[in-house]
Amino acid sequence: MKHYLQFSDLTALDYAYLFERAALIKKKFKAYEKHHPLADRTLAMIFEKASTRTRVSFEAGMYQMGGSVVHLTTGDSQLGRAEPIEDSAKVISRMVDLVMIRTFEQTKIERFAQHSRVPVINGLTNEFHPCQILADIFTYIEHRGSIAGKTVAWVGDGNNMANTWLQASEILGFKVHVSTPGGYEVDQSIAGLRSSDSYRVFQDPMQACAGADLVTTDVWTSMGFEAENEARKVAFADWCVDLDMMHAAKPDALFMHCLPAHRGEEVQAEVIDGAQSVVWEEAENRMHVQKALMEYLLLGRL
Ligand code: CP
Ligand code: NVA
Repeated sequence: MKHYLQFSDLTALDYAYLFERAALIKKKFKAYEKHHPLADRTLAMIFEKASTRTRVSFEAGMYQMGGSVVHLTTGDSQLGRAEPIEDSAKVISRMVDLVMIRTFEQTKIERFAQHSRVPVINGLTNEFHPCQILADIFTYIEHRGSIAGKTVAWVGDGNNMANTWLQASEILGFKVHVSTPGGYEVDQSIAGLRSSDSYRVFQDPMQACAGADLVTTDVWTSMGFEAENEARKVAFADWCVDLDMMHAAKPDALFMHCLPAHRGEEVQAEVIDGAQSVVWEEAENRMHVQKALMEYLLLGRL
């Protein structure tokens, strides 16, 4: 049994399969063709943080594959009343086939997985957001072909998205140019990289974007860090992806953002709503890649 708790849980070969499979699943969806490999299977979705994309993509995706979902939040389950995570895992995993969790510390999802009888998927933790990077790289491939050998510029917080980009760069063979304000740097030990060869740190976000194939950013304040909001607004003021940064990148560079976005903070409206932005495809692709992932975790390669 495989879990998907971080990007490094799968290999380059697994990803090659998943990207191919997601393309096929997307094609069938667009052609209104039935695809019911998960008939009679149930996915439990546990949300300890808010979500739009993750909920809709997993829920719609599971129904489209013939399965069903159970939606739980901290507020409406015993999870919010201090039932131990281990007990919750033992109970929930006796009744469903697959579990998706969005929570705070990565250790929480790891503890759940240790006591789960069924595969567990990370729908975002403080440390990682693997399903999002799966969608982002699939989107890159759709537009520009293989990401191997390419350069991704990360502008902003050294957060869950940044950590996951670092893991992906080592597995799939591309470079990440990271620029964060002081005090918000990425920490290689969280990503668990073998070496620092796949990424380079830049103080100046313009330099990180120079010659990049993809420029990407995220909110200045992630969920769970709201108390730092005002301090972050000051610290991140120069880390707004603007047209100058996009001009420093390659002429055919793409812009991505996992969303939700704050125009005028981490990105200028002219960039996210401009011709190089692929944010809507990126959001839609969450559903297609996660359908491939759920199928893979339950049925293996088909
Ligand atoms: N990108 C993403 O995970 O969006 P939600 O928070 O809306 O799920
Ligand atoms: N880094 C953001 C991503 C939201 C999808 C957060 O964790 O809130």
